[in-house]
Amino acid sequence: MSGLTLDAICKSYGSAKVLHDISLSIEDGEFVVFVGPSGCGKSTLLKLIAGLEDVTSGRLEIGGRDVTGLEPVDRGIAMVFQSYALYPHLTVFDNIAFPLRLQKRPKDEIKRAVEKAAETLDLTARLTYKPGALSGGQRQRVAIGRAIVRNPQVFLFDEPLSNLDAALRGQMRVELSELHQTLKTTMIYVTHDQVEAMTMADRIVVLRDGVVEQFGTPMQLYRRPRTRFVAGFIGQPGMNFLPARVVGTEGGVTAEIAGGTRISIPVAAEGLASGDTVELGVRPEFLSLAGPERGMEAHVRLIERLGGVSLLHGTLADRTRIIASFDGLDEVPESGSVHLGFDPAQAQLFGPDGLAKPPLAAVGARQ
Ligand SMILES: Nc1ncnc2c1ncn2[C@@H]1O[C@H](COP(=O)(O)OP(=O)(O)OP(=O)(O)O)[C@@H](O)[C@H]1O
Ligand SMILES: [Mg+2]
Repeated sequence: MSGLTLDAICKSYGSAKVLHDISLSIEDGEFVVFVGPSGCGKSTLLKLIAGLEDVTSGRLEIGGRDVTGLEPVDRGIAMVFQSYALYPHLTVFDNIAFPLRLQKRPKDEIKRAVEKAAETLDLTARLTYKPGALSGGQRQRVAIGRAIVRNPQVFLFDEPLSNLDAALRGQMRVELSELHQTLKTTMIYVTHDQVEAMTMADRIVVLRDGVVEQFGTPMQLYRRPRTRFVAGFIGQPGMNFLPARVVGTEGGVTAEIAGGTRISIPVAAEGLASGDTVELGVRPEFLSLAGPERGMEAHVRLIERLGGVSLLHGTLADRTRIIASFDGLDEVPESGSVHLGFDPAQAQLFGPDGLAKPPLAAVGARQ
């Protein structure tokens, strides 16, 4: 049992409150990603879990055990940082063996543990190398090996891939996901890369200014973001936000967008009245070419061809910028104007408070 429970965790530095009342329940064996913009408190939260910083208030359990007051070494965790800090004068073997030597483990046990970790991480052929003779990805794997041999209950990663180039990042992302499948140990992984969050996580915690905006599976965050912030953070390219005005609240919300197009969105109208300013959220991949009677007119500014997909960058009548994503093989006009349509059930509607209005189907299901 090595789940984690964070109960009303707060952290202040002097008078600056950095984390506000964070409560999370992380399951045994889960891969949880903390994601959010720079300075939102991701590393601080990880350090509190590791015991490298003390909580200001709140309670922390690992594997059902209260660890709030315990030293880092007594918490059963291993942490891997962005800067992997290997010992340059030691071989890969000795770097990985380091924590076990500190614990004065028997020699043959150390050898077995290091060889097993090296095999898992595909480092067997590099055990006699010094870090200077390794690539960035290999060095990061040595740092992970040093964490693995400690056989922790929970792995904590703080942006371990951010020093690597894009190609290596993509490769290491897959390797870390595979490592999790092999070890089945609880992992908490900090990043500000939403692609890493989407692809690696069982569940994602979106943090903003020290507050949890949403905790859910990648697809929950993608399909049903609770706030405009989460909606804008998850998805690549990001969601389009179209300024709109409420013109009806019967059986959903009817909103008028640029050029006078009226769209009825099947979401709860609670708290909204005609005349209110709202935003329609539509993902680029949910837009398609439509006839003039159904779609909104967009002036084509640029087409980006990525191969598999083409991105149309356009401008609406009110100068709102919009991105639509098409299959790379689709015929897409290179200039002039197009009409873009979408299925209203795929759209989100955000009130003036930035909260997404719940879909009517979900409201009905609750009653
Ligand atoms: N030791 C400290 N003393 C005072 N303030 C701190 C300290 N450590 C962090 N902070 C503040 O806490 C906030 C959160 O910092 P943190 O390092 O957790 O952010 P982060 O989400 O990890 O950002 P990044 O993505 O840039 O790594 C920041 O405003 C930072 O200035
Ligand atoms: Mg950080």
